[in-house]
Amino acid sequence: MKAISKSFHGIPANQDIHLSIESGEILGLLGENGAGKTTLMNILYGLYQPDAGQISINGKGIRISNPVESIHHGIGMVHQHFMLVQNHSVIENIALGYKKTPFFFPKTKIRKKVEDFSKNFDFHLDPEKKVWQLSAGEQQRIEIIKALLNGADLLILDEPTSVLTPLEIKELISILRQMKAKGHMVIFISHKLDEIMDICDRVMVLQKGKIAGSSDTKDTDKQSLARMMVGRDVVFNIHREKITRGEKILSVKNINALGDKGLFAVKNISFELFKNEIFGVAGVSGNGQRELAEAITGIRPLFSGQIKINGKDITNKSPRTIYDNGVSHVPEERMRFGIVPGLSLYDNAILKQHHTKKFSGRCFLNYKKIKDHTSAIINAFKISTHSISNQVRNLSGGNIQKLILGREISETPRLLVASHPTYGLDVGATEFLRNHLLELRKQGSTVLLFSEDLEEIFELCDRVAVIFDGQFMAVLDSDDEQLCDIGLMMAGSKRV
Ligand SMILES: Nc1ncnc2c1ncn2[C@@H]1O[C@H](COP(=O)(O)OP(=O)(O)OP(=O)(O)O)[C@@H](O)[C@H]1O
Ligand SMILES: [Mg+2]
Repeated sequence: MKAISKSFHGIPANQDIHLSIESGEILGLLGENGAGKTTLMNILYGLYQPDAGQISINGKGIRISNPVESIHHGIGMVHQHFMLVQNHSVIENIALGYKKTPFFFPKTKIRKKVEDFSKNFDFHLDPEKKVWQLSAGEQQRIEIIKALLNGADLLILDEPTSVLTPLEIKELISILRQMKAKGHMVIFISHKLDEIMDICDRVMVLQKGKIAGSSDTKDTDKQSLARMMVGRDVVFNIHREKITRGEKILSVKNINALGDKGLFAVKNISFELFKNEIFGVAGVSGNGQRELAEAITGIRPLFSGQIKINGKDITNKSPRTIYDNGVSHVPEERMRFGIVPGLSLYDNAILKQHHTKKFSGRCFLNYKKIKDHTSAIINAFKISTHSISNQVRNLSGGNIQKLILGREISETPRLLVASHPTYGLDVGATEFLRNHLLELRKQGSTVLLFSEDLEEIFELCDRVAVIFDGQFMAVLDSDDEQLCDIGLMMAGSKRV
């Protein structure tokens, strides 16, 4: 890519970008939320047309007007947010994107191909399963197979690991290494510096739409990359002061809840949460975390058991009633449940509060207050957007995450249920969010934090529960000596 520039509504998203990659190379692409990474890759994939600049392959200038053409040129892309049809099977989804799909549905042929690829790259995928039954890692494998089946020499992965479990990340890395060995090229976008250092041969950093620098990974380190990205030193300076916890806020008693597949996903869990504390739930994802969060916030019905907030029974009450009792929720699948992409930032900023006195007059919404509130969130979270009337679908992935976070936590909720709140955030925003959670704790909120990131858990939490197969293996204080065994407990051994 040579001298690529692209603006939206007169605001530059990419300015004079040069990028090259050669056979067998894995290139990392780094940059803050809104730096222009996805835009640049969408140009390479033919989704956007650049305003200026050229693209060439093997020295030959080409024009890529749409993804069909980029696939033809051997370029494949796995998007930041998957684009699969939930009710279709693995085979059907692959057939949908298959460039050679003939008039008749080539089911047996595609099944055979999926099996061959699974063997060749050593991964597991049941071709007959429906997409909604699959984990994030499995869905991603569909996207990768789709690209490879179409003959992709260059695979673009936009934040592929933010939705994966640690085990799935290992599997992905192994797939990428095999691709590299076979001469494929990979462009890998991530906010996780460890991963970039581990997987990539070379890394390029974007800052506010421009190249801030690039380097072979062997000649750089995490600190330098973070500095290049943010323009200042990023030291995770997080200090959790001692606070005596207050009165009881949440009581969860012997709750059971079914998962999507009709089996018990939450099994007889009991615990209590108190004012001024952050309570972490650590575990490998898929062990009941999502279902537990949904049960507490009213999205998933309880099979049995009882939940009280501030002494009031909220068992099987509606999400709205539970919200009105002071419970905020940052859901795991924020793109599906957290926003309406076609609405403006300010509509989205009050999605669950439009009925409250704060934002509505007698009959009409009070737009002045709504807009002020939205501007405050934009400032606090440094959301990059040209206007608060901008549709949310035009924001970068990380900036959408920030908007949802801002909406849910700006009000000092009584209880905040937060699932993986730092997913998709750049290093600066992560630091800000963690400090903000500690600030909420100080101001008297209670936080129930679901995270797979043990560093995050240790930094923030007063107590940690370890979840495995829908059950708590242990609840540990932050100074418990057994904290070092947390890895074992996450794999299913109960506290002795
Ligand atoms: N279709 C669009 N219409 C208007 N603005 C857009 C559009 N797509 C991207 N932008 C803007 O371009 C800028 C760069 O966005 P981009 O999605 O490339 O960032 P990113 O580096 O991928 O960030 P993140 O880490 O948050 O995913 C942002 O300010 C975004 O709002
Ligand atoms: Mg992006």
